[in-house]
Amino acid sequence: MLVKNAKLRGNEELQDILIQDGKFVQIGKNITADCEDEVLDAGGNLVCPPYVDTHCHLDYVGTSGLLRPNMSGTLFEAIDIIGEQNAAGLITRESLKENARRVLNWQIANGTQFIRTHVNTDEEGLVSTQVLIELREELKDYITIQIVAFPQLGVYKYENALENLEKALQMGVDVIGAIPHFEDTREDGLQSLQDIFALAKKYDVLVDVHCDEIDDEQSRFVETVASMAIKTGLYDKVTASHTTAMGSYNNAYTFKLFSLLQRSKINIICNAPINITLQGRGDTYPKRRGITRVKELLEAGINVSMGTDDIMDPCYPFGTGNMLEVLLIGIHVCHLTGYNEIYKAFDLITDNGAKTMQLADYGIEEGKPANFLILSGKDEMDVIRRMSVPLYSVHNGKVLAACAPKLAKVYAEDTFDVDFTI
Ligand code: FE2
Repeated sequence: MLVKNAKLRGNEELQDILIQDGKFVQIGKNITADCEDEVLDAGGNLVCPPYVDTHCHLDYVGTSGLLRPNMSGTLFEAIDIIGEQNAAGLITRESLKENARRVLNWQIANGTQFIRTHVNTDEEGLVSTQVLIELREELKDYITIQIVAFPQLGVYKYENALENLEKALQMGVDVIGAIPHFEDTREDGLQSLQDIFALAKKYDVLVDVHCDEIDDEQSRFVETVASMAIKTGLYDKVTASHTTAMGSYNNAYTFKLFSLLQRSKINIICNAPINITLQGRGDTYPKRRGITRVKELLEAGINVSMGTDDIMDPCYPFGTGNMLEVLLIGIHVCHLTGYNEIYKAFDLITDNGAKTMQLADYGIEEGKPANFLILSGKDEMDVIRRMSVPLYSVHNGKVLAACAPKLAKVYAEDTFDVDFTI
């Protein structure tokens, strides 16, 4: 395959990209095609690495309104609904797999090729874990799925949580999670982190903690996560997701915390569309909006990425799996609207996500796997403004999705229009 006239990020002159055997072999000007090469003319549009969604809950997607709608729009009612849905047996192995597969199709159509999903391990039988492991294998030629074993109800609030986490690791999940701010006491929260870091070391997996997703300015587990990342030597294999309490910390404490975060090299994930709607519900005015300090973290050189978190589930009724939706909302709520910040913000759904997921072969460079998007737009600003559906999504040199002209066609060999309804 030869891609002509590609606008690469940070490069003013248009480039050609030659791909052979699924890899980038040459990037430069005036590359000529062999008669057997498929030629795609990017026409000066932005060509960039695929989107990375670092935080999703594929085991809940598509369940919005299944039992009843969330009338208040709050997390509290969402938790009630999830419990009622489970008690009513409305989520089956088959429906969970069908919904996750459908949403993964949306994500592929929208240019995501790498995704980290959490899966609730606080359930008997670990059926959800098994289903997502099956999908990880079935879809591996289209999208890389990383699975986080997530003790949704709390390591010390669900009887078999630790045993289930270890079982999930033995089943082959990639990452271990925790939710320390949700445990009954601070001590339980700290102990849960000790436990999951020990399991991470034992099974040589990454760590991704739902961390301080609360408006309580006293919720400070992120400092423990960072400290343990240093003490265990896991460093950038560790991620703190959400960290919304950081938006409520005083500046003196945050200044000290940032030094620790820099030394720890941990990653932070912001799920802006979700936290802006779920947090701040106990406030009158001024009203907090549940956003971690993305702008300041980036300025301090700390790796931050963004994720979808919820797509059409009891917590959040919107979403099409388009990372540009997440980024556009994130840019607004995080005040990333300075001219250069907007261009740089594209890292939040590309390069920074790849760092978080520890994707060694990510990026458009000679010798790396030919994974890329051709987007409709002359640069990052243009693409974000227009919320462009990818003209092409190419994975290992094969076209996965192509725009025709408005709805994406997914998996070129067996094309079908993607229907964004469930
Ligand atoms: Fe989450």
